[in-house]
Amino acid sequence: MSSDRVTFELEHCRLRPFAEGDQSAVVRHANDWAVARWLRDRFPHPYTPADADEWVHYASTALLDSVFAIDIDGEAVGAVGLTVGTDVFRRSAEVGYWLGRAHWGRGLAPAALTAISDYALNDLAMLRLFAGVYAGNERSGRVLAKAGYTLEGVRQAAAVKAGQVLDEHIWVKLAASLPTSDAQVTPQEFAIGPGPVSDPAEPSVGPSVPPIGP
Ligand SMILES: CC(C)(COP(=O)(O)OP(=O)(O)OC[C@H]1O[C@@H](n2cnc3c(N)ncnc32)[C@H](O)[C@@H]1OP(=O)(O)O)[C@@H](O)C(=O)NCCC(=O)NCCS
Repeated sequence: MSSDRVTFELEHCRLRPFAEGDQSAVVRHANDWAVARWLRDRFPHPYTPADADEWVHYASTALLDSVFAIDIDGEAVGAVGLTVGTDVFRRSAEVGYWLGRAHWGRGLAPAALTAISDYALNDLAMLRLFAGVYAGNERSGRVLAKAGYTLEGVRQAAAVKAGQVLDEHIWVKLAASLPTSDAQVTPQEFAIGPGPVSDPAEPSVGPSVPPIGP
């Protein structure tokens, strides 16, 4: 792994970019309805080796520094990541995460989410981080609470998953101080004037569609 990539050394795991060779571990941990049921439909179920191939290729090229494997002893046992908004939402990011069931209940997800939230707020100058959690996913709500997020509201009947209409609980974490103007707007962006100032097809970090969750 190249040393200029963002990685995080945590107490019980490491966050690092996905890389070729992760496919079999990804299938092992992702091919589980207990995981997939809480994520978007683009997280396939069943999860096949071809799905893992596609994911590892995408994540190890397009998603560098925004989506990370949760690594235990060299094995990718889950993922955590950010999708930075575009246009007027460029200082907001959606967080997403999942973890193989064999590793649940050890506080790994809260630690991973805390690390990438600090990174997003401190290094990427995000102002607002958010996650949408399907009603009933109490574990994920606990993860967010432990990582310092608060429940902002409920979007009623927002999602349809596995034939069920579900409310979506929106959890947020804001920057410690919220500016009233965007100090990061460049002179060139000012020159463009009102309207879209960044190309939605090319977000600064990650894709416009969150790859891993909720
Ligand atoms: C949500 C998820 C990431 C939790 O990760 P984790 O590292 O196990 O998180 P924690 O260890 O902090 O556990 C979270 C809570 O669930 C509880 N929990 C963990 N495993 C459990 C189990 N097998 N049965 C019941 N509760 C369990 C824990 O007690 C903890 O609650 P507490 O802090 O009040 O004690 C993991 O369950 C997962 O991947 N779920 C499917 C994908 C998903 O929901 N992603 C988020 C979409 S918004």
